Amino acid sequence: MSSFKEGLEDVVVSTSEICFIDGREGRLLYRGYDVDELVAQSSFEETVYLLWHGALPSRKELEAHTKLLSATSTRRLPPKLVTMLRQFPRKTTPMEVLRTGVSALAAFDPDAADNSREATVRKAIRITAQMPTLVAAWERLRTGKTPVAPTPRLNLAANFLYMLTGKKPTDLAAKTFDVALIMHADHEFNASTFAARVTAATLSDLHSAVVSGIGALKGPLHGGANEQVMRVVEQIRTPDRAEAWIRKALADKVRIMGFGHRVYRVEDPRAKHLRRLATELGRQAGKPQYVEILNTVARVVTEVKKIFPNVDLYSGAAYAAMGIPTDQFTPIFAMSRVAGWAAHVLEQHAHNRLIRPRAEYTGPARQAYVPLDRR
Ligand code: COA
Repeated sequence: MSSFKEGLEDVVVSTSEICFIDGREGRLLYRGYDVDELVAQSSFEETVYLLWHGALPSRKELEAHTKLLSATSTRRLPPKLVTMLRQFPRKTTPMEVLRTGVSALAAFDPDAADNSREATVRKAIRITAQMPTLVAAWERLRTGKTPVAPTPRLNLAANFLYMLTGKKPTDLAAKTFDVALIMHADHEFNASTFAARVTAATLSDLHSAVVSGIGALKGPLHGGANEQVMRVVEQIRTPDRAEAWIRKALADKVRIMGFGHRVYRVEDPRAKHLRRLATELGRQAGKPQYVEILNTVARVVTEVKKIFPNVDLYSGAAYAAMGIPTDQFTPIFAMSRVAGWAAHVLEQHAHNRLIRPRAEYTGPARQAYVPLDRR
C-alpha cells in the first residue's frame, strides 16, 4: 500500500457543498457565505436553514422554519424521557446525558427509521429544537430544581438561557449566545461530522448519526477542548500568574487546549468574534479576568509555538461570564453543531456510498494455531 499520514491528514473523502475552510487565509464559508457576515447579520435559525436547504430563506420561508423550530410541541421533551433523566445519578456528566438522551429521543420520534429527505428534515428540526431542552433540563435536575418549560416566544439561543436559569437573558447574553451558535454550526469534515457521515453512509438514521457525532465531539482534542481551556483558567486563577504558568506548561511540553488546528495555519476566524464577545460579557459581568488570562496565554503560545487560537479558546470565557457551568460548554457546542451534522447526513444520503477505508496491516504474518494445552 502507498504511504500515508496518520489521522487521515489532507485526505479528501468526498465532495461537499456545505462548508469551505481556507486554512491559509483564515476564512470560513457556509454555502458560500462568510461566517463573518453571518455573525454580523444572520441568526442561528437562518443559518440552520442555509445549511439544510443550501440557500438563504425568503422572509416567508424563514418565518415558517422559525415557527417549526420554536413551537412548544417541537421543543418539549417526551415526559417519559424526563422521567428517565430523573433516574440518572446526579454525577452523570451533561455530555453523557446528551448522548443517551438523543438516542432515547429516537424511541419517541414518529419518523425515526425513515431516511427520506423530508423525514430527515422533520427529524433534524425536532432534534435541533429538543437538544437545548435536554441540556437545560439536566442542569436543573442535577442541581435539584424543576425543569423550565420552553417558550415559543424566544429564539433558540434566548430560550435555552431562559430554560437554564428560569430568567429571561439580557440582550447581550442572548445575542452572544446566538452568535456562538452560528459560529459552531458547521466545520466541514471535522471529526464529529465525519463520524456522523460514516454512520449515515451505512444507511443508518439521523438520530444514530447525531449520537455518533456527540460521541466524537466529547473528546478533548475536539469539542471537549472548550471545557479543558476553562480548567486551565481556573488553575491560573489571576492574570498576573498567567505568563509564568503558561511558560512552564510549554517547557513541560503540555498540550495547550484551545490552540492549533488540523486545517488553519493562522488564527481561527471564529476566535476573534468569541474574544470580542467574551471581553464584553466579562466586563459587564464583572469577570474580566478570564479573557485577560487567555490573552496572555495566547500571546505566549503564539510567540513560543507559532500555533494560534482556535474556536475553543474564548467560547468558555463567554459562557462562564453568563454563569454557565464548565461541563455544559461541550453540550452547547453540540446544540449548534447538530445543524451541521444534519446537513451532512442529508448530503450523504442524497449521494450515498458506504465509507470504508483500509488499514495497512502491520501485525504478525500468518501463523499456525496452537491448541490451548500446548501453549
Ligand atoms: N499545544 C501544544 N502543541 C501543539 C498543539 C497544542 N494545542 N497543537 C499542536 N501542537 C504541536 C504538536 O506538539 C506538534 O508539534 P511537533 O511536530 O513538534 O511534535 C505539532 O504542533 C503538530 O501537532 P499535531 O497534534 O500532529 O496536529 P494535529 O493536526 O494532529 O492536531 C489538534 C490538531 C487540534 C488536535 C491539536 O492542535 C490539538 O491537540 N489542539 C488542542 C486541542 C484543541 O484545542 N482542540 C480543538 C480543535 S478546534
